[in-house]
Amino acid sequence: MRELLDSLQATEFAYLIAAGLFILSLYWMNSPQTARRGVLAGVIAMILAVLGAAVDPHVHSYHWIAIAIALGFVVGVPLSWVPLTAVPQRTALSHAFGGLAVGLLGTAKFYDWLYSDVSRLSHFTMTAIVAEVLLGFLTFTGSLMAAGKLQEIKWIPQRPVTWPYQNVGNLALLAIAVLCGLALILDPQRFSLLFPAIIVLALAFGVLLVLPIGGADMPTVISLLNSYAGLSAVALGFVLDNMLLVTAGALDGASGLILSIIMCRAMNRSFTNVLFGAFGQVQSQAAGGEAKTAKRETPEGAAQIMEQASLVVIVPGYGMAVAQAQHRVKELYDLLTKRGIDVRFAIHPVAGRMPGHMNVLLAESEIPYDKLVEMDEINHDLPQADVVLVIGANDVVNPAARHDKASPIYGMPIIDADKARTCFAIKRSMNPGFAGIENELYFADRTYMLFGDAKAVVGELVKGLSGNSGGH
Ligand code: TAP
Repeated sequence: MRELLDSLQATEFAYLIAAGLFILSLYWMNSPQTARRGVLAGVIAMILAVLGAAVDPHVHSYHWIAIAIALGFVVGVPLSWVPLTAVPQRTALSHAFGGLAVGLLGTAKFYDWLYSDVSRLSHFTMTAIVAEVLLGFLTFTGSLMAAGKLQEIKWIPQRPVTWPYQNVGNLALLAIAVLCGLALILDPQRFSLLFPAIIVLALAFGVLLVLPIGGADMPTVISLLNSYAGLSAVALGFVLDNMLLVTAGALDGASGLILSIIMCRAMNRSFTNVLFGAFGQVQSQAAGGEAKTAKRETPEGAAQIMEQASLVVIVPGYGMAVAQAQHRVKELYDLLTKRGIDVRFAIHPVAGRMPGHMNVLLAESEIPYDKLVEMDEINHDLPQADVVLVIGANDVVNPAARHDKASPIYGMPIIDADKARTCFAIKRSMNPGFAGIENELYFADRTYMLFGDAKAVVGELVKGLSGNSGGH
């Protein structure tokens, strides 16, 4: 059997198909219609990659592989049970494990070759090992910090932690690690004692890199760490001479980077601002002027106004995800469309806590994809909208982003909910959103608050609408 698999070059064949499937998987993820197929392609590719590695002619003993797979299941299965709102920190944990695995493999290879056959530590291989170990270990601690901040673990501060000469200090640390790496590349045997130093510096750099970044920027940082994990896998691929790892790592690295860029654009921030800007440090300044009050409305009253509308735009946000209100929202959508009312959903690219968060929830409740309209497009329609219903969205509809230069979200593109004829906003209190700032929209003349849990309030709206046997 073994000979047959070897003669068929089964490993290379499996890797080739897996690489193709990884590329198709990413391509299919581009649209909600094909996303399921994309996930399936990724799963099949991963299974092929594992099987391909298992039948590799260089693999002779299987018990360590079996232990690793069993451990993977023990950690991975409970991780898959987390709620959708916790997916960003779950993803950060996966990156941490990936970074640790790559870092440990690089370390094992270094010491293995150092003592068995130092000629294998050529300049090229050593460069790949140094890059792999640096990126792997910094991804490990950086991702753990990011996951801890998002999970709001007590002893990891949510707010940006800053100190004098922070950026200079961090860059100096990185420079020392790179210098140690250069020495190792030039003469691994002579400078072998510097190897543990690189590991310690990389671990420390990961912590120091994420400490000054506030919770609000964590999703962007996580996708950046995703790209570091991908790059470290590329380096590992060169060390192990495994082209599938190089391909998959490059796809991972590039997609993480593209995602970070998309997020930065959606928040009108630059990379340097995210990494060094200590965003979220600005506390909401106490209003010096007269106390503002927000108007309230009852769900029954809101339902009556909604059924008179021709165009209703629903703006979902993080609160809809927390309340798991998407199925009630579908009932509301059905009732309104039955009355001939045009209902559209305004999707902000960073609504919620991860890219595509709202699309996933609305798709889950089977709202037609063509009713989900991107921010730039829906903003043209909003002045014609009779009603805009904001469900647990806050920062992404805050008009301060357009004009208040002192606001931390100034310049972030927003959904112009304030331009509709009437705005109803569902949330539980007047507490701020992720950016920690007050929202002008709630105090605007045409805005009415519907206080309560999103699922309960949308349920009341549904009740109000199904009670009234209205025609349009
Ligand atoms: P947020 O600004 O965080 O506002 C969510 C609102 O939902 C809160 O004001 C909260 O008010 C309300 N809420 C929470 N639970 C609720 C419940 N059970 N029922 C009803 N309301 C509830 O959310 P957003 O508008 O979606 O904006 C996303 C934020 O995340 C932005 O600041 C964005 O920059 C940041 N961010 C997102 C991403 C991605 S990729 N999505 C990446 C980086 C940063 P109450 O507590 O009063 O209910």
